[in-house]
Amino acid sequence: MTDKQNLDRRSFMAAAIGTAAGVGATGLAGAAAAAGAVSGNTDLSRPPAGAPGSGGQFSPIRAEVTINDCEVEGKLPLDLDGGFFATGPDPQYPRVPGNIMFDGEGHVRVFRIKNGRVDYRTRYAKGERYLAQDKARRGLYPMYRNPYMDDPSVRGLSRAVGNTHVINHKGLILALKEDTPPIALDINTLETVDPIYTFGGQLPKTQPFTAHPKVCSITGNMLAFGYEAEGLGSDVVSVFEIDKNTSKKLWETKIKVPYVGMIHDFGISEKYVMFFVVPMTIDIEQMKRGGIHWSWDRSGKTWFGFFRRGGDGKDLKWFEGPTRSGTHTMGVFDDGKKLYFDTEITAGNPFPFMPNKDGSPPDFKGAESYLHRISVPLSGKSKGYDIEKLYPLSAPLPRQDDRYNTVAYRYGYAACPDPAAERGMAGACYARMDLQTRTFKLWNAGTKVSLAEPVFAPKNAKSREGEGYLMGIAYHLDQNLRSDLVILDAERVEDGPIATVKLPVQASPQVHGLWVRGDLYPT
Ligand SMILES: [Fe+2]
Repeated sequence: MTDKQNLDRRSFMAAAIGTAAGVGATGLAGAAAAAGAVSGNTDLSRPPAGAPGSGGQFSPIRAEVTINDCEVEGKLPLDLDGGFFATGPDPQYPRVPGNIMFDGEGHVRVFRIKNGRVDYRTRYAKGERYLAQDKARRGLYPMYRNPYMDDPSVRGLSRAVGNTHVINHKGLILALKEDTPPIALDINTLETVDPIYTFGGQLPKTQPFTAHPKVCSITGNMLAFGYEAEGLGSDVVSVFEIDKNTSKKLWETKIKVPYVGMIHDFGISEKYVMFFVVPMTIDIEQMKRGGIHWSWDRSGKTWFGFFRRGGDGKDLKWFEGPTRSGTHTMGVFDDGKKLYFDTEITAGNPFPFMPNKDGSPPDFKGAESYLHRISVPLSGKSKGYDIEKLYPLSAPLPRQDDRYNTVAYRYGYAACPDPAAERGMAGACYARMDLQTRTFKLWNAGTKVSLAEPVFAPKNAKSREGEGYLMGIAYHLDQNLRSDLVILDAERVEDGPIATVKLPVQASPQVHGLWVRGDLYPT
């Protein structure tokens, strides 16, 4: 076992967090701990990430929880009215060796905050996969995004789990995972109301639907895409826009990508649709051998592409760049001459628990993610894109004020290890970034917590950008992962929480979260 693999249990705990769903206190050690996840799958002395006893944030809970009137420490703002929703993988049955932490049925939660009170509720997103396993009383889908390994009894059923992100669509919470249609849940009860949500039959039941749709800042319409749109291994990406009021599909365009890779997120501006194609590529042979969907091509080029929103896609332009990965978009905009696409970038495989195509060992340094700005000219004959590092923050899950999804924005937010860690200032932080001044402020939560991705909640619909609250889950590493919801003044994050909602249990696993303002709830 190498030094990097020889990690203590706490570093191992940070694996699932630092690389997948939040930020542990240990920075690089967190990424390095992913070695534990990899070796854990083959070394029986160490449980795989997410397995019972691993201590990982993705440890199965399996219990659906309802707690009314949660204990609150501090002063809960009376103008805070809404729901903080999130989802994450919570395996209904134990993962098999070799499977990864991204697999598992989506367990959706909400903190409903109103009139100074907080109610906490969690329910599984019960798609056809969940229901089939519940009936069979065993796991039927042993490997992440590998239909070759599915139990024959589930052929033809939806593999949807809704374990990556949630959106609010006309009073329904849609639980998302990028390889399937959404699962629709009641916004108040979180009970599943539609296991395959197709926007009233407008999307095929096999249509993949991104976990990162965007809401147009001008019209309120939703823009989304699905990759591998025409079946396993398809190089077709479908892009479409759903009307805010009628839920009708306004337009749909199909484009082809340079190669079939993981397209986890994208960018939308007022006029353009943007994609960043990275070499986490489909590996059919690996799948046939029983492995996961992807492997990392260390020699693969990246491609940044854009085309006019609402058009036929024939104006699509691709710009080539070096081997990189960029999983999450923070924000995008254009100035009439150039497009700007702010994303977190890794130099190598961002998920060391996913194999490298050439069999090389995990590259933990290459998995560190930093915020960058990709830019391309709107016209001219440039063949490559420019790239600039924005912040020295290792922040794989950057967010913005979601009202600015498709327009120029100023502020970003993220969970990150303290960038001064190399000088001994360890700790998990929430950061507020000011893109105009290129400065940032931090709240350091210390070394005994891990922090999930934060979300921004505006004080009300008309608040100026950044005026509101930043909130997220703190998992206490020294309290068996008992969790708090911490709420900060988003303009004074350095002051720390103004209120802390104290759960008596571990919060359900979170990949991504969403704030739904009270005025957007159905009446
Ligand atoms: Fe994501």
